[in-house]
Amino acid sequence: MATHLAAIAIDKGEPFKLQARSTPKPGPGELLIEVKSVALNPADRLMRDLGLFIPTYPTVIGFDISGLVLEVGENVPVSETDEYTGLCFRPGITRVAAYAASFWRSCDPDYGAFQEKCLVLWQHAVPLPDEGMTWNQAATLPVSVEVPLNAWDIMGIPRFGEATAPSSVSTAPMGSNTSEGTQTKKQKKEALLIWGASSSVGTMGVQTARLLREDRYSSFAAVYATAGAANHKYVSSLGADRVFDYKDPQVVAAIVSAAREDGLVIRHCFLATGQIALCQAVLKAFLGDNQGEEGRKAKIASAPVIPPDAENLNGVETIFVMPSANEEERLAQFRYWMGTWLRENLAKGVIRPSPEPRVVGKGLVAINSGLDLLLQGVSCTKLVVEVAE
Ligand SMILES: NC(=O)c1ccc[n+]([C@@H]2O[C@H](COP(=O)([O-])OP(=O)(O)OC[C@H]3O[C@@H](n4cnc5c(N)ncnc54)[C@H](OP(=O)(O)O)[C@@H]3O)[C@@H](O)[C@H]2O)c1
Repeated sequence: MATHLAAIAIDKGEPFKLQARSTPKPGPGELLIEVKSVALNPADRLMRDLGLFIPTYPTVIGFDISGLVLEVGENVPVSETDEYTGLCFRPGITRVAAYAASFWRSCDPDYGAFQEKCLVLWQHAVPLPDEGMTWNQAATLPVSVEVPLNAWDIMGIPRFGEATAPSSVSTAPMGSNTSEGTQTKKQKKEALLIWGASSSVGTMGVQTARLLREDRYSSFAAVYATAGAANHKYVSSLGADRVFDYKDPQVVAAIVSAAREDGLVIRHCFLATGQIALCQAVLKAFLGDNQGEEGRKAKIASAPVIPPDAENLNGVETIFVMPSANEEERLAQFRYWMGTWLRENLAKGVIRPSPEPRVVGKGLVAINSGLDLLLQGVSCTKLVVEVAE
């Protein structure tokens, strides 16, 4: 019987222990991945230290992986057809980044990322471009891409290319002083706000928002972001038009007056990390602007769990970002986020892994110390462990 090494969660609050476990065979719709790198997320630490979401031990957890497809089960696309253009998984050949799904399998250890071999649902995986991306960079992608794309979906923002062209929409650039430009300002009237944009999910929030802004039929004319001062340049390089310091006591007033200066309203906010009350205060300032136009209700999509004492603000809806609990719906969501959006935009070279990975060690043994480091806090970086060459 084939075996491999895993970083096993043996009990709540215990460090992972390295142990051999038997290597599973992929079932229908599944890939067996040889894990090359894993990226660390705040949820991994909460699961290890507090037992969050874990119904039974021992188990294997972890979300973000990059690796090589070793075997495939039935009903996995292995060659390109019209239905699966550009999306196929060839054993021994296809390199992938994938969002491990143990969370949705009651923490079944076969589906956790922190081991040498892991089962992944093909819809949760994206084949990587042939060159130009390291295993470490690829491992930073799945969670950081899934969360902001999910945020735009749950706020009801049309997907890329799916916004319809209103007859009066002009495509002149924002700020153009032609009469056409004036019309564009009126139609492309919103700034998208990403709060906590130097976090892992925030950096990708900025990149995904930039592509929404570039969609000629979307209502977004600008991307606004908040980050610590040291990270403003980096966040701008990802596509933010204006970056504000979330530590500035006047940050809300600064954002509101910038939007007024740009002739824009802010109705949608992706809260990657930070204080919900500040996001609410920004959106509240624009309630009632442009009365009679579509989408007057403001929305915040929050990556962090919404605190129970968060204020309920009339006119500003706050939604926790989470994929569908329904398996069929969730697989369709991931298929779009990973297999369509991420694959296409990596191929076009219009998004890049962000933030930069920082390797905290080699081998599964480094995951415990990496999670301890994550607890101390990171700034605009994603911690990564190299599991195999
Ligand atoms: N719902 C989901 O499925 C899901 C999935 C993944 C993550 N999450 C949650 O999303 C949040 C972000 O995760 P992550 O891994 O992206 O975080 P991260 O990379 O660890 O976040 C670090 C960043 O947070 C920024 N930051 C710290 N305090 C802030 C504040 N008060 N306001 C604005 N920015 C602040 C720091 O900015 P500076 O260094 O620039 O000061 C730093 O760059 C976490 O709460 C995580 O649990 C949820």
